[in-house]
This record gives sequence, structure tokens and C-alpha cells, in this order.
Amino acid sequence: MAQPLSDALVFFGATGDLALKQIFPALLAMTKRGNLEVPVIGVGRSDWSSDALRERALQSLEAKGKVDPEVFAKLARRLVYVKGDYNDPQTFTAIKTAMGEAQRPLHYLAIPPSSFASVAAGLAKSGAAKNARVVVEKPFGRDLASAQALDRTLHEFFPPESIFRIDHYLGKEPVQNLLYYRFANSFLEPIWNRQYVESVQITMAEKFGVQGRGRFYEEVGAIRDVVQNHMLQVVLLLAMDPPASNDTESFRDEKISVLRAMRPLNHKHVVRGQFKGYRDEPGVSPDSQVETYAAMRFHIDSWRWAGVPFCVRVGKCLPVTATEVVVNLKKPPQAVFGEVRSTHSNYYRFRLGPDVLISLGARVKVPGSGMIGQDVELIAHQLTGGEQMTPYERLLTDAMKGDGTSFTREDALEESWRLIDPVLKYQVAMYPYEQGSWGPVEADDITAEVGGWRNPTAPEAK
Ligand code: BG6
Repeated sequence: MAQPLSDALVFFGATGDLALKQIFPALLAMTKRGNLEVPVIGVGRSDWSSDALRERALQSLEAKGKVDPEVFAKLARRLVYVKGDYNDPQTFTAIKTAMGEAQRPLHYLAIPPSSFASVAAGLAKSGAAKNARVVVEKPFGRDLASAQALDRTLHEFFPPESIFRIDHYLGKEPVQNLLYYRFANSFLEPIWNRQYVESVQITMAEKFGVQGRGRFYEEVGAIRDVVQNHMLQVVLLLAMDPPASNDTESFRDEKISVLRAMRPLNHKHVVRGQFKGYRDEPGVSPDSQVETYAAMRFHIDSWRWAGVPFCVRVGKCLPVTATEVVVNLKKPPQAVFGEVRSTHSNYYRFRLGPDVLISLGARVKVPGSGMIGQDVELIAHQLTGGEQMTPYERLLTDAMKGDGTSFTREDALEESWRLIDPVLKYQVAMYPYEQGSWGPVEADDITAEVGGWRNPTAPEAK
């Protein structure tokens, strides 16, 4: 059922890094598509004016490329700034005034979770939480207990259907395509199970380090930063059953079924690493035990996936920036042609970034007299650039419409922490690795029984 559109967008953290890098470009794109015909209120603690905020928005947009002056002027007219302390009731009175006639605002908390409680309470007291939706940024908790505590706080002021927990991975075009491809084609379903799939591996490699975010990273580490959320969401999209219908809750129900069938991570199936030089980063402790790399094996004890390892690895300062899923199919039962069977065939490959690719790895015969083969890839879909909708544009547009399909439901959030919690509490050994390498060799054990890791290559130069 169509939900009413939000009639104002209030974003907290307007002077911050996320606003600069992601939110302003999303607001401009929404304006361009006619999806933001409402007041837009930026809130921050810095002593700025509305003009300063508009100037900041322009800087952010110019950094991304050419700005259409007409579209920017339209956005700038709607954009106002409210300065204030999140503990001061006057901040929220000023927000309410800036909202004008709006009755159903969307509040986007692009701020640290430690401020959620005071902002939610301030909004409620001023009347600005009435009929409102709230979007919350990650990290949503540090573990199961803190995530539950955050949820209790938000529930005091917002009903569950009005809370949108954002995971920008779910707004990525190739991630949405993964879901689409799985359920829009019939050829995949017969083989998408333990009978045909030998293993699944997901690599999220980043060539860069912590990029000045040392202090943040020290609090988080790779497992909390990208495994508990982004990587688990990719696992769910790969492993879920088809939804019973096309509504939000049916999709979320299938995801929760997978999560409930997943075993909590066993520390024996986790390898942590830290790139050499991390401890010299600003804000990082000289004896930091925080991981910048993690490799692990998940197990899904379901009818469809029992016995199929889902191997995940993520890391900073690796040789390339690329995120890729490889679904390895079981090998033919016999080598009919007597040749050594390739380990690089019989697979599906989904490249989720920075470029987009869906392909099938196969063996074909080399022309000539012998029955000798070679590996080829059949490319089903490839995008190297183009006007892709950014995740933030997509997700903020969805939240304004009240569509929670690409947001995380509370039960899924808690289940994901349940899976991760055991390794956060257990001091898993950590191995240093060279910058520009594929991480510690100890991580090879994770995939040793299923043919080893497949390293993604850099995108082809355009
Ligand atoms: C963020 C993490 O959530 O995702 C970063 O905090 C990471 O550490 C980023 O680099 C990766 O997202 P993307 O969309 O750039 O691949």
C-alpha cells in the first residue's frame, strides 16, 4: 500500500563529513528528479548560517563534477540551517519553525549514536516527531546489547515502521541487481543450492587505508565497520528464498529466515589482520589490536545451504579496490577428457564495485585436434560507469516514500549482532600484513578446502 510522502527533510550532522561526501549530492540528484519538493533543514552544532550551508553544499557538489546551476538554485532555495545544541530544547523549537506547515517530516540522524537519545527526545518534546520517520546511520550499536539499547531509545519516540536503519550497500545498483537477477531468471533456481554450489566467497578489498579516520576505526575495526552490516546483507541476498510476495515485510521475512539459520561465528573460523603502519596513523593507539582485515567462514544450516561455506574477507590497504562475489559450482563428477580440471571454471561472478559485472565461468575446447580446454567467462551484464543512482539518493528517496524494503528491520539487526558477538568478545589472534598484499597468509586456511581465495582484479582502465 502506498504510504504518504514525507513533507520535510531534516538532516542532523549537516556540517559533517557524510553530508559533504554523500548527502548533498543525493539531495541535488533528488531535486533534479523532482523527488525533493519539500523544505530541507540541515542541523549542526557549528555556528553557521543558511548561506554558509548552501556554500558548503556547492563545494561538495563541485568536488563531484559540474553542477547544473538551475537545479542547485532550486535546492538552495529550500535549504536552511538550524544551529544548535542537541540537548537544548530551543534547537528543536527552531527546527519545528523551519518545518513550516510540514506535518510528516523525515529526520535523518547522520550523527553518532551517542546523540540519538537526546535528539529523539528533543524532537518528541517539540512536536517534530509526530507522524515523523527517522533514518539512522550506522554504526547501529557495538554489539547486541548496545544495539538493543539504541532500539529501546528510538522506540520510546517512534513506532517500528517509522524507523529506517540505513545500510548504503543495500542502495547500490549492483547489490539491487543481485537480488533482481536471482529472482527474475528461472535458470538459476535449480542450481542455487547445496546440490550444485560448492562454496561462496565474497571479497571486499580496498586499496586505501583508514583515510584520516583512525580514531573512528579504533572504535570499530573491520568486522563492525563492514562485515556486521554490508557483507552480511550481501550474504542474505545471495542465500534468501524467494519472497512470498513483493511487499517490504515479505523480503525482510526471507532475510530473517536465513539469519536464524546461520551459526554464530566461531573464532576458529575467523582470521584478523592489521596492515603494517596502521599504528602510526593519527588517532590510532601505538599498540592497537584493532583489525583492518578480517576473513571468516559463515555456515547456514538450512535445507538449501547446509554444508556450503560462505567465506567472506574484507580489508584495507589490499592490492585493489573491488568487491566481488564468486559462487563456485561443484565440479563435474569425472574428468571425461582426462585433462587436469581447472579450478577457475564453473562459477558465477558478481562484481559489486567499483564496476558492475555478472558473469559465468565455463570451460570450452581449444580449437585443434586434442580435447583440451580453456577457461572463458560469459558476461551477462557489465557496466563501467554511466549515471548510476547513488545509494544515498535511492535510500533517502525510499525513506521519504516510507518504503523500508532496502532498510534493516530490528530483528535482522539483532540477529546479525548475535552472529558477530562471539568473535568480538573473544580475542581472536591478529596477524600483521604488508600494505598492498592480500592480507595475512593465515587467512588461506578459511578457503583451503574449497580451492582458495579468488582475488579480484582492478577495474579495466577506461
Ligand atoms: C563504509 C565504511 O560503511 O563503507 C568504510 O565505513 C568503507 O570503511 C565504505 O570504506 C565502503 O563503501 P563503498 O560504497 O565506498 O564501497
